[in-house]
Amino acid sequence: MKSIRILPSLLAADLARLGDEIARVGASGADALHLDVMDGHFVPNLSFSPDVSALCRKVLGPEREINTHLMITNPEAYAARFVEKGSSTIQFHLELRDRVDVRALAAEIHARGARVGLVLNPDTPAEVAFPYLECTDEVLCMTVFPGYGGQAFIESVLPKIAALRAKAPALELMVDGGVNFETAERAAAAGANAFVAGSFLFKQADMGAAVREMRARCAQAAASR
Ligand code: DX5
Ligand code: ZN
Repeated sequence: MKSIRILPSLLAADLARLGDEIARVGASGADALHLDVMDGHFVPNLSFSPDVSALCRKVLGPEREINTHLMITNPEAYAARFVEKGSSTIQFHLELRDRVDVRALAAEIHARGARVGLVLNPDTPAEVAFPYLECTDEVLCMTVFPGYGGQAFIESVLPKIAALRAKAPALELMVDGGVNFETAERAAAAGANAFVAGSFLFKQADMGAAVREMRARCAQAAASR
């Protein structure tokens, strides 16, 4: 069974205390920090710059994964910048496959020493990812339409997760959007093993306890598949 990974999304942090919020993720026992990058074109919102990746690296120290989710139209122009600024995984969207050379960008990210993630929006079918499974370290299935935190989990994505798991039993398979204890369990039962959660984890008084409970619940749901 794939190990369960929990990734708090910094988008839900209290920006007035950003350094402390990053440290809270570090202390929580989470596997990685998920950093959402938006450009106002690919999604109708703006968020974090490479400097925030550098801040995360400074606060988290050298080892912890910074999982950077590029919701931008030109990931090829920024991937290297984020790796230089401490991001250890670069995720970009397969909806861009007509304008971005997916294999070339994945190879460039790998050459710079980072992991690669390929992302599917809720309405992009699993089959779109199939030709690229050999050039990626993980696939992220969005369970909301990207752009904002705090949206409701889209249940109709679950069969896509199951299809990807059936196609690639060893795949690192992540969900992002509307994840809480219950939706994480359903995603785990469908085959996901990595879980991004923003508003749910940041609103907890004890993020570490919530990370542990989510990991335990997902492991149980995955074991009963
Ligand atoms: C949405 C982002 C998510 C977001 C999730 O565009 O990609 O990572 O932070 O937030 P929640 O967990 O609140 O749905
Ligand atoms: Zn994200």
